[in-house]
Amino acid sequence: MSDVTVCEPCTIIIFGGTGDLSRRKLMPALAQLAQSGQLNPRVRVLALGRREAYDDDTFRDIMRQALAQANVAPAASDNLCARLYYAAIGNGTSDDYQRLRRRITALERQHQLPENRVFYLALPPAVFSAAMTGLGEAALHRSQGFTRLVIEKPFGHDLTSARQLNQHAHQYFDEKQIYRIDHYLGKDPVQNLLVLRFANAFLESLWSRQYVEAVQITAAEALGVGTRAGYYDGAGALRDMVQNHMTQLLSLVAMEPPVAFDADAIRQEKIKVLRAIAPLTPADVVRGQYRAGQAQGAAITSYHEAQGVARGSTTETFAALKLSIDNWRWQGVPFYLRTGKALNRRLTQIAIQFRGAPVGLFKSAGLKMDTADVLLVTLQPREGFSLHLDVKIPGAPFKLARIPLSFEYDDRFSGMPSAYQTLLYDVLSGDQTLFVHAEEVEASWRVYAPILDGEDPPHSYPAGSWGPTEAEGFAVQDKALWRDD
Ligand code: BG6
Repeated sequence: MSDVTVCEPCTIIIFGGTGDLSRRKLMPALAQLAQSGQLNPRVRVLALGRREAYDDDTFRDIMRQALAQANVAPAASDNLCARLYYAAIGNGTSDDYQRLRRRITALERQHQLPENRVFYLALPPAVFSAAMTGLGEAALHRSQGFTRLVIEKPFGHDLTSARQLNQHAHQYFDEKQIYRIDHYLGKDPVQNLLVLRFANAFLESLWSRQYVEAVQITAAEALGVGTRAGYYDGAGALRDMVQNHMTQLLSLVAMEPPVAFDADAIRQEKIKVLRAIAPLTPADVVRGQYRAGQAQGAAITSYHEAQGVARGSTTETFAALKLSIDNWRWQGVPFYLRTGKALNRRLTQIAIQFRGAPVGLFKSAGLKMDTADVLLVTLQPREGFSLHLDVKIPGAPFKLARIPLSFEYDDRFSGMPSAYQTLLYDVLSGDQTLFVHAEEVEASWRVYAPILDGEDPPHSYPAGSWGPTEAEGFAVQDKALWRDD
């Protein structure tokens, strides 16, 4: 018997349906869901764009090419393309939204679909509010079935704008209808953090200030800003990676056990972590910006030369931070976050560094101990984890070596779903566990508010390095070294 659960029939309406996100992530994810049998055969997808000249067939041809580029198998591509439709949204006037309403109703009638609707805003953030108003004023925020709204990141630019966006969304939609995306939450190894912690009781008993010396979270990218400077120069590493993706990792590592494995319980615990973070000051962050260099054998030009970067821009492409969580479990344990573009290599990893043995039994015998025991949870590029321990090297003289007990997903399982596959399926199933709550997004912006816009220019670092040297000493103060293994 198959254990595949099929979602309910519905219409998925994608704003920005011809855009990059739709072509590279959403359509391939939907095609995989269709192929795996999780997408109900009656689901229809209506892509919205600005081009009046397109019709359903033109759009299907374009998507077929996009799916081939994303290495989607032809059968999966055909399966999805047969359910794709296209509509122009014009300038988003109320007439345009009435036209959209009629098109949705016609599709539902044609395919005998219930009024189950998912509106996916794969749009630039500047037009999120306009789309929500358009939907609300055309009474598309309610239906006889379910209506869900999916909002891509970035959700706001700071606390004030995030609050405004939440207020705006809540004018029409209930929180239960809103799915704020952070694609890190859809990554399987990120979800596995909960399993690692709460299904393996021995680990949970070590997971506190008593046994943990420091926690480090790294999200390093080898690529520079590429063609995205138009957006990135107005954001920077703190807004682009830290406030959202890295904070999600931090919350999952630090949260208390939830009372149940459900959306409300888990999201409430994550919010409590954010509330317990001690106020940040500029001394808690080191900002950097890359100059020209070599990363993984490829030449990278300096950030300033990327197209779309403002002259003299002081946007940070690197950030390292130290945070403290003022609660019973974590009091006194430093949490370090480090992220950047054009770094030495791609690595997303959480390092739980345990305290050393209370008595230096082997040290006193004149033997060199390695660094502290550490649990590394690697999210990219090779998903898995490893626990690094000391063992005796056989024979004499008496020497120790550091050995990893390691697990890699690839060695044991095949077919890791993409983050968007997981998240889209959850939207279609009405499960909000992996989505960011309104309170959570505001709590997270509140944490970073004091440091978002640094007054000093960022430190320079060569592309291909691990960031500015100023960030190195930062961790050393607490007996923690940045880990790159
Ligand atoms: C995005 C950021 O949200 O996440 C990008 O806007 C970043 O700048 C990307 O490159 C990283 O995602 P991943 O899944 O490749 O680690």
